[in-house]
Amino acid sequence: MRLSEIKTIFHKELDESYPKEEVDSFFYILIKHFLGLERFVLALQPLLIISKEEEQPLFEALSDLKLQKPIQYIIGKAHFMEMDFLVDEGVLIPRPETEDMVRLILNDLGELPQKKERFKILDIGTGTGCVAIALARNLPSAKILAMDISVRALDIAGRNAFNNGVKIEFLLADILKIPQWAHNFDVIVSNPPYVRESEKRDMKSNVKDYEPGLALFVSDEDPLVFYKAIIKFSKHHLHQGGYLYLEINEYLAEETKALLDERNFTDIELRKDIFGKDRILKCRLK
Ligand SMILES: C[S@@+](CC[C@H](N)C(=O)[O-])C[C@H]1O[C@@H](n2cnc3c(N)ncnc32)[C@H](O)[C@@H]1O
Repeated sequence: MRLSEIKTIFHKELDESYPKEEVDSFFYILIKHFLGLERFVLALQPLLIISKEEEQPLFEALSDLKLQKPIQYIIGKAHFMEMDFLVDEGVLIPRPETEDMVRLILNDLGELPQKKERFKILDIGTGTGCVAIALARNLPSAKILAMDISVRALDIAGRNAFNNGVKIEFLLADILKIPQWAHNFDVIVSNPPYVRESEKRDMKSNVKDYEPGLALFVSDEDPLVFYKAIIKFSKHHLHQGGYLYLEINEYLAEETKALLDERNFTDIELRKDIFGKDRILKCRLK
């Protein structure tokens, strides 16, 4: 079949569910991923015909897109801070808001006087490893540890670290049950689960039907459960003056900030994300 005909079928089948530009973008991502073809191929070879075997993954992807499966899970890859990350349905797809948090950390650390010892950083709930790996790539002399409760996530994060050429110590641990550790850190960062069960009904099905519940949801009864645990942990495991960075639920910004006040953290700053929503809390241990 002609490649141009397949593109027409994509629009016919998907334009009701997605904006036209997004359908174009899906199509180009898929021909690049499955066939190694660049987006301008149709302009150069409008009559290009592809074989039945070559068509097959494109039509399978079309069926998945009709069911709202995220394109990143279809091709098994996501982009974060100019790097590629393997993803599957066991890990959250890295988000642009989280890139903002990484940039903020890099910016802050760049302004700190360089210490004799290596900076020690902990990423709690690492998922794909995107935060830890992006920090490691940009801070080659830092020692970085990353933890998650999910074996599947740690397996993917380990492969992502290897593929992106960085060394990270990955730990299987539950932040809600963790005993005191021997480690202390200069920076602790976390993007923990923070979406309340009751917010599920407002979520698009590409997120709630495909991304792991373990990475996303918390109960309505105790929605700050992870923040309470991380803040308590940080109180004991940050060096004096050490930094804590948290990605947060935009609807619970004040309540989350109050937890930091209660625990005597200082220099507390609330930052908005690229969409203007309260998204990052940054503070230091007194
Ligand atoms: C919102 S995702 C963040 C993933 C990644 N850091 C990112 O920003 O894309 C939260 C992560 O926390 C992990 N997690 C959930 N419960 C946990 C627990 N009790 N202890 C440690 N990690 C947990 C999940 O497996 C998931 O990978």
